[in-house]
Amino acid sequence: GGQRALIRESWQRLSGSPEQHGLVLFTRLFDLDPDLLPLFQYNCKQFASPQECLSAPEFLDHIRKVMLVIDAAVSHLENLSCLEEYLCNLGKKHQAVGVKVESFSTVGESLLYMLEKCLGAAFSPEVQEAWSKLYSAVAKAMQRGWET
Ligand code: HEM
Repeated sequence: GGQRALIRESWQRLSGSPEQHGLVLFTRLFDLDPDLLPLFQYNCKQFASPQECLSAPEFLDHIRKVMLVIDAAVSHLENLSCLEEYLCNLGKKHQAVGVKVESFSTVGESLLYMLEKCLGAAFSPEVQEAWSKLYSAVAKAMQRGWET
């Protein structure tokens, strides 16, 4: 359908530098909710500032992991249910590290912000709508990990 084509096409435009785009996403996430910072701890060490976190190699790995999950969702637009079990387990892992279900909405807002900044004029209301739906489906599957 048209929405799937819009998603593929817009994601393709961003495929050159996933880390750069992921940084825009997570910079926005910490602006919207600085309380998420303490959830990212590597070797039990807390980051003193979002800037410190955003430049840590382990955190950049997390950014790459997030972008890969989104990439997998884009690759499975026709059959997202293939990812159901993976996403549910991923949700469980996030519950275990102390993430609240509500924070996934803030991630969604940050994703749309990144798309708007990085796509510029190509970020049409139709593109926004299509991404909003896709992200909701991913977040819902992850949320099922909290309930089970
Ligand atoms: C792992 C935090 C959102 C994908 C982790 C870990 C933490 C974490 C602390 C374990 C350490 C690490 O691998 O870096 C958070 C927080 C989030 C968030 C605070 C926002 C509220 C997301 C989202 C996705 C995602 C939206 C994907 C759509 C992953 C993946 C892993 C991971 C793939 C690795 C899981 C594994 O080891 O099997 N996350 N995360 N994260 N996160 Fe997140």
